[in-house]
Amino acid sequence: MSYQIAIDGPAGAGKSTIAKLVSKELGFVYVDTGAMYRAMALNCLNNGIDKNDEESVVALCEKTDVSIKYIDGEQAVFLNGENVNGLIRTPEVGNVASSISVYGKVREKLVSLQQSLAVSENVVMGGRDIGSVVLPNADLKIYLDADVNVRAKRRFDELVQKGEAPSFDTILEEMKERDYRDTHRDNSPLVRVPDAVYVDSSYMTIEEVKDAISEEFRKLGK
Ligand code: DC
Repeated sequence: MSYQIAIDGPAGAGKSTIAKLVSKELGFVYVDTGAMYRAMALNCLNNGIDKNDEESVVALCEKTDVSIKYIDGEQAVFLNGENVNGLIRTPEVGNVASSISVYGKVREKLVSLQQSLAVSENVVMGGRDIGSVVLPNADLKIYLDADVNVRAKRRFDELVQKGEAPSFDTILEEMKERDYRDTHRDNSPLVRVPDAVYVDSSYMTIEEVKDAISEEFRKLGK
């Protein structure tokens, strides 16, 4: 019997950072599902496929192999056998991932990969539809939120740290667009399920958020 913690929330709420820390503390495997959509998005970009052309995106997706391996405890995403972890963290790939994740056939393929990973391992899984669709019986569901201005500022700081010179207003606009698309799509939109614990990380430190979530799990007495 394995344990499952689902962490859903909008882009930039800190899901990956927090889920990594919580999984380390509890000795669980961390599964970042956004990385799988990002790998599919990279695949479309590499093949010159228009993200709005559903038929072509789905056709490419069907002949694409996405898999996950753990290297020194860190998740690595493989696209047709190539480790693409270093290539998927750009705003462009994130935006294309958000666009192609509206297609049911793309989701079907990645959801079954996600569910298979949670069968035999204790997992902390982060995404948009984990508590609602992927792991509806998860032991603990968290909805991790933050004010959109705070989330845009975090993205902005991240890019500045990488030596880039981003425009805050562009990042904010893109984030709002992404929020809208992720919450309004027909297939498995981002929703706050009624049984999720709501955590607003806007004015919390990473450590505080990690402790709050670990504590919620311990409270279950599992
Ligand atoms: O969490 P992220 O920014 O890496 O996710 C990139 C995009 O992938 C996100 O905007 C929507 C999509 N996604 C999804 O539809 N379902 C998930 N479980 C995870 C991500």
